[in-house]
Amino acid sequence: MLKGKKIIVGVCGGIAAYKTAYLVREIVKQGGEVRVVMTQMAKQFITPLTMATLSKNPIMVDFFDPENGAWNSHVGLGTWADAMVIAPATANTIAKMANGIADNLLLTTYLSARCPIIIAPAMDLDMYAHPATQQNIDLLKQRGVVVVDPDAGELASGLSGKGRMAEPESIAETIDDVLAQIDTKLKGKRIMVTAGPTYERIDPVRFIGNYSSGKMGYAIAEELAKRGAIVELISGPVKIAAKRKNIIVTKTESAAEMYAAACEIFPKCKGAIMSAAVADFTPSQCADSKIKNKQTMQITLVPTPDIAAAMGKMKQKTQFLVGFALETDHEEINALEKLQKKNLDFIVLNSLRDAGAGFMTDTNKVTIYHRDGVHIAYELKPKAEVASDIVNSIERYIND
Ligand code: C5P
Repeated sequence: MLKGKKIIVGVCGGIAAYKTAYLVREIVKQGGEVRVVMTQMAKQFITPLTMATLSKNPIMVDFFDPENGAWNSHVGLGTWADAMVIAPATANTIAKMANGIADNLLLTTYLSARCPIIIAPAMDLDMYAHPATQQNIDLLKQRGVVVVDPDAGELASGLSGKGRMAEPESIAETIDDVLAQIDTKLKGKRIMVTAGPTYERIDPVRFIGNYSSGKMGYAIAEELAKRGAIVELISGPVKIAAKRKNIIVTKTESAAEMYAAACEIFPKCKGAIMSAAVADFTPSQCADSKIKNKQTMQITLVPTPDIAAAMGKMKQKTQFLVGFALETDHEEINALEKLQKKNLDFIVLNSLRDAGAGFMTDTNKVTIYHRDGVHIAYELKPKAEVASDIVNSIERYIND
C-alpha cells in the first residue's frame, strides 16, 4: 500500500539490477511515485529506457544534462522523497555510503536525503561475507539505514551462498513497513488480537465450529505488526499463517482455551482487538470415544465464557478494547448494546446482509461505532485495507 508515496529507487551496477525493474513496477502498481537514480555502471545491466518506462519518469545518472545543462538537483530529490531504496546496493556503493563519499548523483542524493533509507545488498558471497563489507553494513545500520538481507542461493558467478538480492516483493514490503512506522503511536506497543473460529469438541473426532476463516483478525495483526507493534495473536484453528516476525502466535482450539490465553496475555498489553468468532455454547461433556449412536440424540450445550466481556471487566484506564459484531438484523442496535455491555472503546460492525462482508471473503464492509457516539461507515474494501482503517482508529486511543 505505497499509494501516494514518493520513492527514489537508486540502482547500482550489479546483475540483480534486472530485478529492480520488477520492484519499480510493484511500487507504481501500488500507486507510488518513483524517480530512478542510476550509477553509470547500472546502465550496463539494465537500460535507462526500461527504468524510465516502468517508473513513468526520466531516469537520472549525472548531475546535469550535457545537452542543455539542465540540473538534476540531488538536494531537491532528497527532500522530495518519502523513502529512498537502493537496490541492488553493491559492495562499492555500500562502502562509499559508509564513508560519506559523494562522487555520483546516487551518493549525493543519499547524503542529502532526509527520508528513511533502505538498502538491498547484492553481490558475490565472498564480497558479502568480507569483514569490510560487513562492517560497512553494520555502520549503516547503526545510522538507521534499513537493510533487506540478501537471500542465499545460486549466484551469477556460479557459486552458491548468501548474496542474492532479496525478491522485489519483499523489498516493497519493507518500504511499506518502514513508512508505516513513521507517525504511529503503536511502535513497540504490545497488542493482543483474537482471531478465527473456536472448535467445541463433541467427541474425539467431531466438534461444533463456525465459518470464520481468521482473515480479518490476521489482517489486523499484520497491520499492527507493520506499524511496529508486538502482536500477541491468539488464534483459533485456521488455514492461514502470520507473516511478520513481530507476531507471537498462541494457538487455541476451544473458547475455554482462548479465554485462558486471553486472561494471561491481556494484562501485559496496551489493548486488545477481539475479532475471533467465539462459540457461545459448548457441549457439557466431550465423549471419550467416538459416539456410535445411530439414533436421534441430544447434546446438552452450556454457555462459554464471553472473552471480550471478561477483558472489558479487567480493562485498566490505560488500555483499549475493541470488539466486533457480526449481525444479520437490527445491526446498529445490537452493535451499540455490545459496545456498552462489553465495555469496549469501539466496535466494528459487519452485516451478513452486505455482499462481500463477513466470513471467508477477502473483502469486508464495516461501520465503526466509537463509545463517544462518533460512527464512520466505510466502503467495501479488501480486508487488508479494512485492517488499516481499524488500526487508524486504534491510534486515537493510544496516548503515550
Ligand atoms: O456477543 P457476540 O458474540 O456477538 O460479540 C462479538 C464480540 O465479542 C466479538 O468481538 C467476539 O470476538 C467477542 N466474543 C468473545 N467471547 C465470546 C463471544 C464473543 O470474545 N464468548
